Order: sequence, then C-alpha cells, then structure tokens
Amino acid sequence: MASPGTDVVTGAFGFTGRHITERLLEAGRTVKTLTGRPQLWGTASDPFGGQVEAIPLDFDRPEALAGVLRGVDTLYNTYWVRFANGPVTFERAVENSRGLVRAATEAGVRRLVHISITNPSAESHLPYFRGKALVEEAIQGSGLSYAIVRPALVFGEGDILLNNVAWALRRFPFFPVAGDGHYRTQPVYVGDLAELAISAAGEPENKTFDAVGPETYTFDELVLLMEKHVGSRARLAHMPQSLALSLSRIVGYFVRDVVLTRDELVGLTANLLVSTEPPRATTRFSEWLEANGAKLGAAYASEMDRHYRMRPRGLLGN
Ligand SMILES: NC(=O)c1ccc[n+]([C@@H]2O[C@H](COP(=O)([O-])OP(=O)(O)OC[C@H]3O[C@@H](n4cnc5c(N)ncnc54)[C@H](OP(=O)(O)O)[C@@H]3O)[C@@H](O)[C@H]2O)c1
Repeated sequence: MASPGTDVVTGAFGFTGRHITERLLEAGRTVKTLTGRPQLWGTASDPFGGQVEAIPLDFDRPEALAGVLRGVDTLYNTYWVRFANGPVTFERAVENSRGLVRAATEAGVRRLVHISITNPSAESHLPYFRGKALVEEAIQGSGLSYAIVRPALVFGEGDILLNNVAWALRRFPFFPVAGDGHYRTQPVYVGDLAELAISAAGEPENKTFDAVGPETYTFDELVLLMEKHVGSRARLAHMPQSLALSLSRIVGYFVRDVVLTRDELVGLTANLLVSTEPPRATTRFSEWLEANGAKLGAAYASEMDRHYRMRPRGLLGN
C-alpha cells in the first residue's frame, strides 16, 4: 500500500507524464509510475534517476493494478494509443482504460486526473476521438472524484508530432498540407498542461475542461511559423487529404514509423483541435518556438521505437 502522499502517473517516462512527474517531484510528492517500459527505471534513460518507482502497466493483472493504487492520493492517467497496431486496437485501449478506472475505484484512489483530448465524441467516426469519449464516460460513471483535462495539440520537450513536422521541414523541399490549410489548432504547452492537471487534482468538484494555449493558428500559419524558426525554405504543397496521408506513409516506410494517422489528419482538418472555451494555458507557441526552434526536429522522434520496439513482450497493452 502506498503512503498517503503518493501519486501515481501512468507513463512517467513518456511525454505528458514526464512533465507532470517532474512538477510533482519538485513539489515534494512521492511519485510512482505505471508504465509499459518499467525496464528504464534506474538506467541512464531514466529521466528521474531512479526516484520514481516503475511498475509494469499490466492490464492483464487488474488485482496487481489495484494493489499499486491502494492508498494513492491522485492517479494521473496519460495512457492511450495513437493508432491501432496488431493486437493493440482502440477497442482494446478503451477496455484497458476501463480496467484501470475499475482498479482505481476498487483501490479507493482519492482523485483521478485523466488526460483526454478536445472534442471527443461517442458518435465520432474516428476511433481515436470515439474511444476517448467512451473512456470519459467510464470515468464519469465510476463514482471516483475526477478531473478530465482535454488538451489540443501538445508541444514541448519530448513531443513527437510537431517535432516531426519540423524534422520534415528541415529535410524536404516541400511540405504536404491536406486541403486548404485553413483549419485551426490551439497548441498547448506540455508544462502548462501538467500544471493544469496538478491544479485540478487539488479541486474538490468533478470537472471536465479544455486545455488549450492562448494562440490560435490555421495549419498553414503554424507550419510557416515553424519554417521560420527551424530555418526551412520548404514550400507548402496543398493537396487532397488522401494524397497527404499517402505521402506520410511513404516517409513512414523509410523511417519505419507511423508518421501521421488518418484520425489525426481528419481530426485536425475538422477543427477538432480547437476549443470554444477560454484558453487556460499561457505559454505562447510563437515564444516557445523562438527559444527552441533551433533544436526542434533536429532528429526524428519515432512512435514505434518509443511504444513498440522498447516494450517488453507481455506489456503490449493488448
Ligand atoms: N501529444 C499530443 O499532442 C496530444 C494531443 C491531445 C491529447 N493527447 C493525449 O494526452 C495523453 C498523453 O499523450 P502523450 O503524447 O504524452 O503520450 P505518451 O507519453 O506517448 O503516452 C502516454 C501513455 O500511453 C502509453 N502508450 C502509448 N502508446 C502505447 C501503446 N502503443 N501501447 C501501450 N501503451 C502505450 C505510454 O506508455 P509508456 O509507459 O510505455 O510510455 C504512456 O503510458 C494521451 O491520452 C493522448 O491521447 C496528446
């Protein structure tokens, strides 16, 4: 059983989870992580130098999950999958998430802070957005005290998507843009997202809210701004969605990764990564880019390396 001041973060070695964990440690909390990569604990790749106990996020062992969560103050849940891959389907990810919520309920976790996404919908034809809505419903019906935080596109140290946009801008003479490029997004800084999540842990009421940054960009504007800061002269090439997706698959073949998913592209072009709520995050993407553009995209960030090739057998989340 954990001590009363212990929080658990799923995915502390990942992107959002890492930033949440850093801030919890700075605040003097004891943090454990449930992760698909427990083998990183205490190695040179452990960002916390062994301070954060790493326990396998093994959905096949719900009693063990409940055991880890017993006595825990807040569970910060970042678990989700970007795309279906073999046995790791969105349906499976929903079931896994429901299992985690059940384990947290059974263990009597004081508060669940869950990272979702802007505009999830159980009616969506996009499995990513539909799955996110189903998980939210499971949390809302669980009886747990909860906060659901819905970020749009997240930027910051350790991200994959925008890093790889910058990587492509540095390497290719043109950048494929699906459609007219006029659809919008409100990028949110991962540090702000982490702070909003931690602050929501301390609030008494159940709440669901968007976490978006103060600047709204059309996709064209976003890419052009990134070009300026990474020193690219690539031309924007507007094309049908299907062609943009096909080109991303060709690049994916060479880097042995899934560069962009259909759900991400369709969600973006359908304006699902913008909010109707006032922005809660304060860091401006433009200012962050000015400070970090020189190194953004210098190396490709691989989803497959991070979440499949490094995962021990049996922890595929399937
Ligand atoms: N990044 C964005 O732009 C963005 C935008 C909107 C919403 N979100 C949401 O924010 C949350 C955190 O996203 P993130 O980008 O920070 O993710 P992340 O760190 O890459 O992954 C978060 C968690 O999911 C687990 N995971 C990822 N892929 C998996 C797979 N294929 N099989 C099993 N487990 C897997 C990770 O496992 P490990 O423990 O092995 O790291 C980690 O526990 C997610 O719920 C995501 O949907 C992200």
